[in-house]
Amino acid sequence: MNLPYAEPYKIKMVEPIYRSSREERELWIKNAGYNLFNLRSNQVYIDLLTDSGTGAMSDSQWAAIMTGDESYAGASSYYNLKETIKRLTGFEYFLPTHQGRAAENVLFSVLMKEGNVVPGNSHFDTTKGHIEFRKAKAIDCTIDEAFNTTLQHPFKGNIDLNKLENVYKEYPAENIPCVIVTLTCNSSGGQPVSMQNLKEVKALSEKYGIMVIYDSARFAENAYFIKVREKGYENKTIKEIVAEMFTYADGMTMSSKKDGIVNIGGFIALNSEKIFKEASTFNIIFEGFITYGGMAGRDMNALAVGLDEATEFVYLESRIKQVEYLGEKLIAAGIPIQQPIGGHAVFVDAKRVLPNLPKEQYVAQTLAIELYLEGGIRGVEIGTLLADRDPETRENRYPNLELLRLAIPRRVYTYRHMDVIAQALINVYNRRDSIKSGYKIVSEAPIMRHFTVQLEKI
Ligand code: F0G
Repeated sequence: MNLPYAEPYKIKMVEPIYRSSREERELWIKNAGYNLFNLRSNQVYIDLLTDSGTGAMSDSQWAAIMTGDESYAGASSYYNLKETIKRLTGFEYFLPTHQGRAAENVLFSVLMKEGNVVPGNSHFDTTKGHIEFRKAKAIDCTIDEAFNTTLQHPFKGNIDLNKLENVYKEYPAENIPCVIVTLTCNSSGGQPVSMQNLKEVKALSEKYGIMVIYDSARFAENAYFIKVREKGYENKTIKEIVAEMFTYADGMTMSSKKDGIVNIGGFIALNSEKIFKEASTFNIIFEGFITYGGMAGRDMNALAVGLDEATEFVYLESRIKQVEYLGEKLIAAGIPIQQPIGGHAVFVDAKRVLPNLPKEQYVAQTLAIELYLEGGIRGVEIGTLLADRDPETRENRYPNLELLRLAIPRRVYTYRHMDVIAQALINVYNRRDSIKSGYKIVSEAPIMRHFTVQLEKI
């Protein structure tokens, strides 16, 4: 018999986690205004709120921390990182930032102005926030297949080239600063973009004179899916695939908290010296001098090592197999999830779990609260709360999908934890008919409301 698959690492340091009672959780979530962001982390047993900045660093990364160079300007850590980014992505110019949204802020300050339109594949919420903050508009050009959770498609992150070309035809090129391709596409369920699609997006954009920018937070996971799903790539290394992916882009923003496997950090990388120079000024104002940009030298060192580790097949296989293991347990129990299973998370189709709950009562949020009550497991709503209100009409935006995202931190939990998560969700699913009402908003912020919204049980 074949041996079962297990993690390709052993554990050198542990952090205790508290297993609370249901009574404790009922009190805590009520006091948190039924917003899982308001819980204290010690009120959570298994934390699947995000895979961002929550990964476990390797011994090599911790060793690199100790040799970090904290010089204000020209630190060796900056050059370590610059050389790693150049080697992996091919980009000549690079600016460190303190995280991904900071990279967006700096780059978009150069690229975008009022009245612009920015096509892409389901822009992430901070990306959209930074676009809308500049009174520009994000246009979703994701393929329609992405919005049907039961449909099997290997690359649900792909851009629909017809939709993209329609944008290019409808608006003058000077109103379209760039197209943003998110790898993997978080908002549609951690779904990858194929190499073919990247190539075609580049060719089409070049024809209309539009720059291609990758939101690269999970670029390595995207490369893994290309290797295992796209013909012609099965024998290439992840690093070769990554290098090819970036040849079809003019620049990238990065949240290093994902596929950099560090707890904080981000960057911009580019081909254009002109944009680099303009962005450098914004970097200095918003982030810090261009050789640290809000990062400690030690953190840049750890990131340089993390980027290399994240682009190794053995690591990516263990990462994505763990997510798959959880997803397959849920599928076996009949729980509707976005398929194929995403790279960093399992996305539960909450509308299909709770079909009778009105959309005005925040379906995915209701499911998230139930899972927390059941097992102390914290997921996150990717639904109406996150979609926020239309900036013009102030009406609630009801997205195509109401998802509960269970994001798996990198190298943090074991297969046994996956069993606990699956069983807790199965328990909720088995009593779904008893969940008859959801929540209403008591107070909310004018933008990015999901972080601070206060809810009340209906
Ligand atoms: N782009 C994508 C695709 C992301 O998923 C995120 C963050 C960002 C940009 C912003 O990066 O957090 O470093 O400022 N996503 C986190 C998540 C928060 O939970 O998915 P950041």
